[in-house]
Amino acid sequence: MSRFSLRTAFPRTPNPLSQAVALRHACGLPVLDLAETNPTRVGLPPPDVDLGVHPGVFDYAPEPFGLPSAREAVATHLSQRGASVDAAHVVLSASTSEAYGWLLKLLCDPGDNVLVPAPGYPLVDVLARLEGVHARSYRLPVVHGFGLDVGRVEAAIDARTRAVVVVNPGNPTGHFLHEGELHALADVCARHGLALISDEVFSNFAWDAEEGRVTSVAGRPLPCLTFALSGLSKVAGLPGLKLSWLHVGGPSHARDEALARLEDVADAVLSVSTPVQLALPALLAHAPRFQAALLKRVKGNRERLIQARPADAAWDVVPAHGGWSAVLRIPHHPGEEATCLRLLEEGVRVQPGYYYDFGGGAYLVLSLLPTPEVFTAALVPLVRVLSPPAG
Ligand SMILES: Cc1ncc(COP(=O)(O)O)c(C=O)c1O
Repeated sequence: MSRFSLRTAFPRTPNPLSQAVALRHACGLPVLDLAETNPTRVGLPPPDVDLGVHPGVFDYAPEPFGLPSAREAVATHLSQRGASVDAAHVVLSASTSEAYGWLLKLLCDPGDNVLVPAPGYPLVDVLARLEGVHARSYRLPVVHGFGLDVGRVEAAIDARTRAVVVVNPGNPTGHFLHEGELHALADVCARHGLALISDEVFSNFAWDAEEGRVTSVAGRPLPCLTFALSGLSKVAGLPGLKLSWLHVGGPSHARDEALARLEDVADAVLSVSTPVQLALPALLAHAPRFQAALLKRVKGNRERLIQARPADAAWDVVPAHGGWSAVLRIPHHPGEEATCLRLLEEGVRVQPGYYYDFGGGAYLVLSLLPTPEVFTAALVPLVRVLSPPAG
């Protein structure tokens, strides 16, 4: 009998909701899918870029951090969003998920931990486990609209903590980091010798303007080692092209040591393909068009949701400022899973808050990406199920 690692012993029994979705699909019943977060499946504009057109597309230059021209393109893209960024501090990877894996290898030994926000997208928990690292949660308090409470981050630090992850804006909570919070957090990280990992994959998707909002830590003079993560997956809606970046910043000695070690990590896999690197300037030139279409879509759907809510409803749309999702606070009874199952019977798929570790209270998460037709059609059963007749 072969033996396998404990770290790959993930639970495999589908939860009742996944089972119900599979059954509905097997029966050929339609689903209005408000759990759809794949930007390539919701009718948003693809780029008009031919990946094969560049001379040298079949050449191979084994550059651990990526082709200089592609790193320059990322540095220009980041510099347009705030502080000036040096291409020498930009590292390309195949995905943000891969970049997380590299940072976990760089910063942690097995048994160490990194702090992650809750509620939040459960990706880091899985990636950390695969590296033998613990993901320890710090709570984003509901009273702050799921914003950062630096005191809670500091309280979660222990002797094995190596880094703090912030997701800016939060997924699915859509709350941005603010200047004061960033500085307090960077001070905590510096005092405890921790790195700050800033996941900025949704930071191009602000719905409004806010005083003191932070959109990127890249290129900012902060007192701790910083890593800013993003990539084509969200910035240009192209997760299938497999190109992301991380910017390394902070005090120069720590930054340079981190870059030297990351070079060995990246050199071991050399994962980013040449065609996508050569096409990167054109793909980044397409990004504003995609972002404008996406923002129109999510803001329109959020407005439709708010308009559909009866004034006396027992549920609420949680305030937020950006991202691709809406969070609904719903009554404790019958709760998240029962409500999702009930909605599925009516042909509408949404996600329960527990997927994102909301804790305390009952929540639903809705993707704002579906077409206005799908979203509007789903609102009728949604409002009916969430607002049962009195008595
Ligand atoms: C907050 C956050 N970070 C990272 C990722 C992964 O990005 P990538 O597709 O580049 O691996 C996701 C995916 O949805 C995400 O929501």
